Amino acid sequence: MSDSTALSLPPGEDIIIDYHQLEQVLAKLSDLVATNGNLFKAKFPDQNGWVYNVCDPEMAKHILVTNYKNYIKGVGIKQINVLLGRGIIVSEGDLWKRQRKMMQPLFSNKLLTHQLPLMISCADKLLASWQDDIESGKPINITESMSQTALDFILHALFSEDLERIIAETGENPFLMVTDDSARDLLFARRFRQLTHLVSDMMQRRRTENRQPFDLLSMVMNATEKRSGDAMPEKLQIDEILTLIIAGHETTASVLNWTWYLLAQHSEIEQQVLAESQQYMPLDVMPSMANITQLTLTQQVLDESMRLYPPVWVLTRRAIADDHFKGIDIPAGTDILIPPYLVHRNPAYWPDPEKFDPQRFSPENKKSQHVGAYLPFAIGPRRCIGDSMAIQEMAVHISRVIQKVHFELVPGQTIELEPLVNLRPKQDIFFHATYR
Ligand code: HEM
Repeated sequence: MSDSTALSLPPGEDIIIDYHQLEQVLAKLSDLVATNGNLFKAKFPDQNGWVYNVCDPEMAKHILVTNYKNYIKGVGIKQINVLLGRGIIVSEGDLWKRQRKMMQPLFSNKLLTHQLPLMISCADKLLASWQDDIESGKPINITESMSQTALDFILHALFSEDLERIIAETGENPFLMVTDDSARDLLFARRFRQLTHLVSDMMQRRRTENRQPFDLLSMVMNATEKRSGDAMPEKLQIDEILTLIIAGHETTASVLNWTWYLLAQHSEIEQQVLAESQQYMPLDVMPSMANITQLTLTQQVLDESMRLYPPVWVLTRRAIADDHFKGIDIPAGTDILIPPYLVHRNPAYWPDPEKFDPQRFSPENKKSQHVGAYLPFAIGPRRCIGDSMAIQEMAVHISRVIQKVHFELVPGQTIELEPLVNLRPKQDIFFHATYR
């Protein structure tokens, strides 16, 4: 496809998208979709090839599912690469395939059942940490709190008893840097990569002491390739562990943050979620996995929250070879942006898109949804590996917290979006909390 004049390209002749100015990209893309439609081409300032912005669910499905083999991760992946080495979020080809096959079985129902008490204790610990503030009427920083509780969960899910041991031995939690520093620049990457030694020591200690607690670290250490029976090389094990820390904490924290924000503005729905929680997850009874599946409205609220505020607000891909879809050429090297934030606001698929309406995700309504129109966890073979864990963790959190506390937004706050690696609020969000 070298002769570009003969190609059938989408509209957009002189649009420049400066993705280094991430903060403005979301607003700019929204404007461009309004004027150019769901598929347009643009240029990055420092590159020759085209970048396609895809908000059309059919084309999203083509790229992420049908012809996924022709697309590698795109813009921004180098930055994540420095952070996560060769973990499965960044790896490609045979390495990714092998790692995914080894990692997938970890996220089983058995693990989720085992993690249920941990999910409950993380929510309860958070509630206890708020006590003084609630009693004295001091506003709660929900953004910070959600980040802390999500990190608390994933670190215990990974390291269980060893986490407390490290904290006792060193007098601090060395992983806290992840929540202290929201920048994901080179400086952060360097500090974060130092955790490699810590994880390696933990693994060595487990081997020496012949200890295998039921947690994700043991599972990664024991993961083997089915055909050869080979274990994962230690370096890759560490990269996968670090990947799970980053992938498993920021995203969940972001969804919880926005979900509380939405519930605080929709008291009728908040009351319904409360009633559901009281019915199926009363605080004084240890719930079963079956109880979790009964939290249908809570799940719908989370789905709708991720529609309006998908943490991974843009998926990026790059075409390896020339491709073609519905009369449009996609030359090799084309960068693709698929922004769930905008796909989820495509009015052809989501009427009245800005409206918070969890009924969109009722079992009946879900049946008629286009698979490419809802992408919070992406779709296709590179779909999020931790989706079920995240949904369960978030549902447990909401159902515990909502039964204890009622939130009201502190008035006068400016709520702005900050689309960095994840969709965060630009300024932390504060709530007044009162006990029920
Ligand atoms: C609400 C919470 C979460 C959201 C919205 C989310 C979203 C996503 C998305 C959109 C992707 C695909 C990215 C792409 O294709 O470019 C992804 C991949 C991934 N996620 Fe999640 N995630 C969440 C929670 C988790 C958790 C809890 C874990 C693990 C503990 C996790 C681990 C991963 C991994 C390892 C991948 C890479 C999968 C691969 O490429 O094979 N995520 N996630």
